[in-house]
Amino acid sequence: MSKPQPRATRIAPATPENIAAAAAALREGGLVAMPTETVYGLAGLATSDAAVAAIYAAKGRPSFNPLIAHFAEAEAAFAEARFDARARALAEAFWPGPLTIVAPAPRTLVSLLARAGLDTLALRVPAHEVARALIAATGAPLVAPSANRSGRVSPTTAGHVAEDLDGRVDWILDAGPTRHGLESTIVACLGGRVRLLRPGAITSGSLEEALGEAVEGGISDEGAPIAPGMLSSHYAPRARVRLNAREVGKNEAALDFGGALGRSVIAANAGIQGGKGAAAAVDSRFRGNDSWPLALDLSPSGDLVEAAANLFAYLRRLDAEGVRAIAVAPVPEHGLGAAINDRLERAAAPKEG
Ligand code: TXA
Ligand code: MG
Repeated sequence: MSKPQPRATRIAPATPENIAAAAAALREGGLVAMPTETVYGLAGLATSDAAVAAIYAAKGRPSFNPLIAHFAEAEAAFAEARFDARARALAEAFWPGPLTIVAPAPRTLVSLLARAGLDTLALRVPAHEVARALIAATGAPLVAPSANRSGRVSPTTAGHVAEDLDGRVDWILDAGPTRHGLESTIVACLGGRVRLLRPGAITSGSLEEALGEAVEGGISDEGAPIAPGMLSSHYAPRARVRLNAREVGKNEAALDFGGALGRSVIAANAGIQGGKGAAAAVDSRFRGNDSWPLALDLSPSGDLVEAAANLFAYLRRLDAEGVRAIAVAPVPEHGLGAAINDRLERAAAPKEG
């Protein structure tokens, strides 16, 4: 599947009834455009790799940036990540409100795809009462990138959202124009430092006032560009990653797609001809037999949304086995394939240091 699943979009005022119905859709893995005080967000269950993959598909995003997890209450956010003293002070000063805090989250239940494979998490408690009511009614945090198609500006009205996402989301909850019209400010509170990652609705001046100290980061409130690389945080496996592999080499693990490698491996090792059964067979782990490589198939049926949902979890699982190298089957470039290939290319790039 290269195109996102078509959906019958309901564009409706954000009444309590519609919020409850939208929350029910979210619990089933659906997508809801929700108003926040910054911009409209395209919300999905933060704990579901499949919902997150559907968000990327709906946006047509060419790469997997980590997403922000939105909570109804600060307490729920505190439980999900490690807030040091500075992070606490910022949360107390600005939540609920347009500040996003990136903190270590080694044990979070938020989807690995939403975190782009990272052990850190971006958390925010929006001030908008509809967003908070929707999160509370869902009973789980929601990830919500801006509700626009990739490459378009962030939407500040339900009408903007409809222009971009009609037929791609289940609900658009209309609560009029957003207050700030500018995304949240993002700070990273990691390793005892506070760094500004994205300028936004809260100025660095007010951050410094709340902290009583300077905030690091190459950004001015005028929005001078950040040092390259700072936002390109991404998961890097320890293993060497070999892309567009046609077969699996000795001592390599396989990250397959659509059974492409599985067929060759199985044919080579067991004399079985390719086919659906063979593709499914290689999806399980073949351990304790040197001639069978460790192999995981991102999507035996060749579904790019399913492959995106599995990408980071499978890379980590193969990496955790301590393999030296991972051979990756070719992934088509259309639809979510572009984003999957973007991440695979980063994973395959020579490691720094
Ligand atoms: O105002 C907002 O923040 C809006 C509304 C809808 O809440 N949301 C929003 O989300 O702007 P999004 O996905 O467009 O921005 C997420 C950005 C990523 O591009 C990345 O820069 C940063 O948050 N981010 C998320 N997780 C991160 C992490 N673990 N480390 C560093 N940066 C992270
Ligand atoms: Mg955006």
